[in-house]
Amino acid sequence: MRRATPYVPDWQGQDRKGLIRLDRNEATVPLSPAVAEALVAHIGQHGVHGYPEYPQLVAALAGYTALPADSILPTNGSDQAIDICLRAFLAPGATMLVARPEFVIFGHSAGLLGAEVVGVPYGPDLAFPYAEFRAAATTQRDLIVFVNPNNPTGTAVDVEFIVETVEANPGTPVVVDEAYFEFTGVTVAPLIDRYANLVVLRTFSKAFAMAGLRLGYVLARPEVIDQLVKIRNPFDVNSLAVVAALTQLSRVDEMRASVAETMGRTKPMVLEFFREHAVPVWPGAANFLLVRPARCDETVARLRAAGILVRRMTQPALAGMFRMNLGTPAEMATFMKVYRELLPVLGGGEAKQ
Ligand SMILES: Cc1ncc(COP(=O)(O)O)c(C=O)c1O
Repeated sequence: MRRATPYVPDWQGQDRKGLIRLDRNEATVPLSPAVAEALVAHIGQHGVHGYPEYPQLVAALAGYTALPADSILPTNGSDQAIDICLRAFLAPGATMLVARPEFVIFGHSAGLLGAEVVGVPYGPDLAFPYAEFRAAATTQRDLIVFVNPNNPTGTAVDVEFIVETVEANPGTPVVVDEAYFEFTGVTVAPLIDRYANLVVLRTFSKAFAMAGLRLGYVLARPEVIDQLVKIRNPFDVNSLAVVAALTQLSRVDEMRASVAETMGRTKPMVLEFFREHAVPVWPGAANFLLVRPARCDETVARLRAAGILVRRMTQPALAGMFRMNLGTPAEMATFMKVYRELLPVLGGGEAKQ
C-alpha cells in the first residue's frame, strides 16, 4: 500500500468546461436527447431514493451481446470490472502477463494486490509482440490480459492469437478488455460459451458517451460470473446509469452512426492532416491517435493555452508523444486550425524529445 501511488489523471482539478477535451478518450458528442429525457423522466417519477435493480439492464445487455443473461455482470465502469477480475485471479506474488505499456489500471490494480506484472513490450512501431508474447505464455501465469485494442498504444491483437492463447492455457484465466469494441467491431465475446477461461470486459464510457455515469460489464461463463459477483457489491452500479443504458440500448443505431462518422470521416481527415504536415502519427485501431511532434511538451502546452487538452505520454516507449481522442467534426476543425498555426513555431515531427 505504502509503495503504491494513486492514479491521478492529467489535467486533474482543472475546470474542463469550455475546453476541447481530447485527453481522456471520453466521447465529446453531446448526450443523446432521448437519454437526457429518460433520465429527467426517471428522476421525476422515481427519484433516486431506491437502491438500483439490474434484471432489465442485464436482459437488454443479453440482447446487445447475444449472450445469455447469466453470462453478464454489470460493474461500476470497466475499471471496476478490471479490479474485480484481478482480485479474483491474482493473489500476492501471482503473475499477470500483458503487453506493455498496458491500460494503466491493470498494472495499478495488480501492484496493489502484490502481484507481479510480466510486461512484454510492444514493438518499436507499437505492433503487438506476437512471438515474444507467445514465448512468455509458455511459462505458467496466473492471469493473461489482452487489451484489444490497447490504450494508450491503440494496438489491436488478432482474434486468432487470443484464441490460440486461450486454448494453449486452459487453466489460466484470459481477460480481454474490449473497451473500444464498438469502434473496431472485433470481439471474442461469442466464444465465451466455448472457453471457461475467457473473460471479456466492456464499457459504456466510450462509444455510448457515458463515462460520467460509470457503467461497464463482464462477459464470462455463468460459473465464472457466479464467482465474480461475490466481489462486486450488490448496488455498485447506480440507477441513473441503468436508465441511461436502457435508453442507449433501445437505440443503438444512434451510437453506430456516431461511431461511423468518427471512424469513417473524422479519423481519416485528422490522419491526413498530420501526414500532410509530416508529423509522425500512430493511428491505432480505435477512436484515438498517438502523435509525435518535434517538441511535445511545448506543443501540449500551446494547445492547452488555445483551449485544447491532449494527453502527454510518460511511458518510456512513448516518449515525446501525446495521445488525443477524436472529437466532433467541429472540434477537429478547430484543432487543425490551431495546430496549423503552431507549425511555423514548433515545426513538424522530426525530433524526439
Ligand atoms: C482499455 C480501457 N479499458 C478500460 C477503461 C476504463 O473505462 P471505464 O472505467 O470508464 O469503463 C478505459 C478507459 O479509458 C480503457 O481505455
